Amino acid sequence: MYVCLCHSVTDSDIHDAVADGVRNLKQLSAETGCASGCGSCRDMAAEVLKDSLREQRNFLSVVTMGSAA
Ligand code: FES
Repeated sequence: MYVCLCHSVTDSDIHDAVADGVRNLKQLSAETGCASGCGSCRDMAAEVLKDSLREQRNFLSVVTMGSAA
């Protein structure tokens, strides 16, 4: 799904950016251009970013728990 039409950024691109270390909208914008054009995607980008960060935290906690056992 496209999140940012100005820069052709998809939700998958945002998930990939989080996997590469992006942690906030400013970093996402610098990395992908998302929300740096007309700005109409800002709220959606922030929501997808938040969900992606939450998923990554959950994944990392499962991996960490798995390696501690
Ligand atoms: S739609 Fe993302 S900056 Fe315009």
